[in-house]
Order: sequence, then structure tokens, then C-alpha cells
Amino acid sequence: MDHFLYRDGALYAEDVPVAEIAAAVGTPFYCYSTATLSRHFRLFDEALEGTDHLVCYAMKAASNQAILRTLADLGAGMDVVSGGEYARARAAGVPGEKIVFSGVGKTRDEMRMALEGGIRQFNVESEPELQALSEVALSLGVVAPITVRVNPDVDAKTHEKISTGKAENKFGIPISRARAVYAHAASLPGIKVVGIDVHIGSQLTDLEPYRAAYRKVAELTEALRADGHEITRLDLGGGLGIPYTRDNTAPPLPVEYGQMVKEELAHLGCEIEIEPGRLIAGNAGIMVSRVIYVKSGQDRDFLILDGAMNDLIRPAMYDAHHDIIPVIEPAAATEPELYDVVGPVCESGDTFAKRRALPPMAEGDLVAFRSAGAYGAVMSSEYNTRPLIPEVLVKGDQFAVIRRRPTFDEMINRDTIPEWL
Ligand code: LLP
Repeated sequence: MDHFLYRDGALYAEDVPVAEIAAAVGTPFYCYSTATLSRHFRLFDEALEGTDHLVCYAMKAASNQAILRTLADLGAGMDVVSGGEYARARAAGVPGEKIVFSGVGKTRDEMRMALEGGIRQFNVESEPELQALSEVALSLGVVAPITVRVNPDVDAKTHEKISTGKAENKFGIPISRARAVYAHAASLPGIKVVGIDVHIGSQLTDLEPYRAAYRKVAELTEALRADGHEITRLDLGGGLGIPYTRDNTAPPLPVEYGQMVKEELAHLGCEIEIEPGRLIAGNAGIMVSRVIYVKSGQDRDFLILDGAMNDLIRPAMYDAHHDIIPVIEPAAATEPELYDVVGPVCESGDTFAKRRALPPMAEGDLVAFRSAGAYGAVMSSEYNTRPLIPEVLVKGDQFAVIRRRPTFDEMINRDTIPEWL
């Protein structure tokens, strides 16, 4: 459920007509709903009720500080994967003790930054990283709390580019080597083992791969405790999928996920952390775009929008489906037409959808891409020297631009032409 609904024949974001925002900020733009973000966060928080837990929003999904602040005010922690994300979370007011640091390639500078600024834990992904972290912590005279991310070798049954828990993926250490790695970690100065981390992939639509992975984590917890480690925290990653279409194939709900987590892990008495990104932000955001031209091709009609692959890359990158809906609600009797929906970028890959059924569209009409809140704005680029598009946050009947569109000068002036040219 989200808060982008038709009312009196027009699409609203909560209580604001989307067309009104388009008139104020220009197109294309991203628009997020505070009510949807909050609702999704609470669904996870409530799903884990009765267990000691922290929902660490995977801010890679949508990292505008206004979104971070919205979630942090509800009690969210953050999962960060770079120094930039760490700085952004801190700037948004998230305390260090609620930030977990994930990622296979943390640099020493990033480690230093987090140790100095405060960190809940590092999710360590390799032995060389463990060694580096030990050295950095020692040099600062502090102790780094860690989990080790284990790779449970389960098939998450998702798109291969976003599957992370199979042996062939670059993530984590093989679970078969975990006991040796934990023994090594315990012997290193500046390192304190606090738990285990696992994350098997994104856009998961089935609980069984999770269950298989968490069972292995439960067994490992017991084995590590028998080895003398204090395992008090389990970071279970993110990845629960969202419905991208409105048919009957909705993925499991957070409450079902939470139930499964409790079934598999509650007996261990650990604090549970989860790192959802997409489920919190995905359906809390739309991308709004305007039709520049309707062009007749030889055997098809093209809807040429002012939004492009650089603004929303998921269709080009993963063949992802996003529902595209007109901002003016079509009359019930309207016969749809088929369009190839494309952007202005000079690549055939700049195609959002092929043969998509839409009501007859005309120049100047507005459309909204649904489910664009996660991995939308954050993955955008300035390809073709197209400015990053604005982000807008709606709350009830108010809206605010939370990142404005840069001017051409701002983009261009970042280049420096050397004197000798
Ligand atoms: N934790 C870790 C360690 C992760 O690598 C990820 C996502 C998450 C949590 C959050 O997963 P989520 O709950 O959002 O599924 N750009 C791709 C998705 C990449 C996901 C990367 N890791 C897409 O647009 O589908």
C-alpha cells in the first residue's frame, strides 16, 4: 500500500496533486511520500516486536537526508556502505551507535572516519579487511566492534546482478571457514566480536532462501558460542522484495518475514538487526516525467519522455519493470494504446518499456513511474550532461524540494580546463 492514488481524476501524492508539484519544480522529478516511508518502517519495526531489535535502513536505496531524518525520527538505524553514506547519515542526525558499516571494500580512511565518529559495528567481509581494521583501531587506541559477514551459499532466487549469498558471489566469507575466521578475529588487538552478519540478496520474493540461510546462522551461533565467542547480535541483512506490478504475485509481508525470523532465531536470545532498503523506500517514491513527443515509428509508436535512463536506470540495467501511469486518470471506457516508452538519451537501451498499454497520450502529458523510490535517484547520473533531477518530499498537504535541480553552470563549472590547454 502506498499514498500515490487517484482522486477526482488526478494522481495525488498524499494530499498534493502531482501536477501541482510538476508545475512548481518542472519535470522530471522524484517524489516521495512521508506516510509511505513511515508506514513501511513501522511494518518492520512491529514485525520484530517482542525481540530486542534495530531496523537499520539500507540507505543505498534512497539516501536524501530528508528521508534519513524521517526514518531516524522513528527510531531507525542506518546501514552504510561508504564513507560518503556514513557522512550523510551523520549529517542527517543519525548517531554513530545506530550505524552499521557494510561492504566488501572498506578503505582504511573509511574505517578511521567511522571509528572516530562512532559506529555500532563493522560487518567485516574478509580476512584482509579484519587485519586492516585491527591496525586502524590500534592506531586510534580504540576497539572496533565487528560481525563477520558469512556467505551461506544459498540461492536467493533473484536477479543474478543482485544475488549475494551464493559461493560464487564476492560477498562475505564462506560459512565453512567461519570458525577459523572468528578464532583469528578474537586473537586480533583492537577487534571485538559481537555477532554474525548475513545478507543473501535483494528483491527476494520467497522466504525459504532466508530460512535456509538463517538456519545456518543459528547453527553457526551455537558453534561459535561453544568455541568461546560472545555472539550477542545477529545482522540478518535486507532484501525483502516489493510488488512492482499490481497483480497477485505480492512477495511475503514484513510480518511474515518477522515471524520466520523469530521461529528460526528467537531461541538464541540475540539482538536482531535487519537492513531493509527497497521495501521501505521503493513504493514510497515515484518518478514523474512529461511527454515531449509522440512519434510514429514503422511498426510502433514511441512515447518520448523528458526522463531517461540516466534518471532511472533500473529498466536498462536489470530489465526491471516499473508501472507507468498517467497523472490524469483515464476514463474507465478509454481504449489503451501500445507505446514503446523511451527517454531522450542517445542509446537504444534508453527504453523504459516496450509495447506498454497506456491511454492515448499527447505532448505535454505527465506520467508517473511507480515503485521508483528505491535505487532510483541514488543510481542516477549526468549522462548526456543531463542535470540530476530534483527530489521532492510530500507530507500530508505540504511538499518540499529536498534536492533541487542543479543549473547548467553548476554542472559545467565542476570541470577544470588546465592552463596549458
Ligand atoms: N544490506 C546489504 C549488505 C546490501 O547489500 C543491500 C542491498 C541491502 C542491505 C538492502 O537490500 P534491499 O532491502 O534494498 O533489497 N540496485 C539494485 C539493488 C541492489 C541491492 C544491493 N544491496 C536494484 O535496483 O534492484
